[in-house]
Amino acid sequence: MNRPASFDLVARVLHWSMALMILAMLFIGVAMVASVSERPWLIALHRPLGAAILLLAIWRLVHRLRHRPPPLPDDLPRWQAIAALASHWLLYALMLAMPLVGWAMLSAGNYPIVLFGDVRLPALLAPDPAVYAWLRDAHGWGARLLFATVLLHLSAALYHAWVRRDGVFASMAGTRRHAPVEPESDA
Ligand code: HEM
Ligand code: HEM
Repeated sequence: MNRPASFDLVARVLHWSMALMILAMLFIGVAMVASVSERPWLIALHRPLGAAILLLAIWRLVHRLRHRPPPLPDDLPRWQAIAALASHWLLYALMLAMPLVGWAMLSAGNYPIVLFGDVRLPALLAPDPAVYAWLRDAHGWGARLLFATVLLHLSAALYHAWVRRDGVFASMAGTRRHAPVEPESDA
């Protein structure tokens, strides 16, 4: 089957808007745990933004499974291709897991899960302080893993853009004009 040269518009818009939202969520999360006075408004932003990320991540996953991504360059070392695949699926898993764990954590803590005004999400779990404590740790460790993976992903993206200049970055930036050029042969 033919592979496209670039990610399509839906994939690119979802990628860049979600990248901004997820980075914002990581900083909002850390700030709201660090500051008692700023916590109320930050958490009021954290919940609906997290719920929006969950919905967009489901849409994105379905879209990804229905549309093949552009191929990685043929000359990319095998370990880098495997690392790219593994880290992309880890990012998908965390984009889904982080909001679900946050939602389940508040349910287990018996907190109302207010999105805005009177709009609330139903509890996912019955109240249980031990489960709440466990999920709170899981949410914190998940956030650290997500942050580390995003940093690696960002480094790899810039390596493609500035060092290899192989079109991988352009395929997500939407600036790629043509299909990957085949290496010239002497024949
Ligand atoms: C992609 C989605 C999400 C990301 C990246 C994220 C990230 C974070 C981070 C970085 C923290 C600080 C953790 C720490 O320093 O221990 C945090 C805390 C928290 N998050 Fe999320 N979060 C997400 C979704 C959600 C959702 C959907 C909810 C609830 C509906 C939620 C509820 C909370 C709560 C209540 C805390 C405070 C926990 C505490 O008091 O220790 N999060 N989040
Ligand atoms: C929270 C931040 C981010 C997340 C969760 C994220 C997630 C992802 C995922 C899951 C893919 C795989 C796409 C697919 O195969 O469906 C991807 C691809 C890509 N991302 Fe990100 N991304 C983030 C931030 C960034 C940033 C900041 C950059 C660049 C500076 C970037 C550049 C790229 C590039 C170039 C690709 C294409 C890689 C390829 O062709 O295999 N991403 N991203």
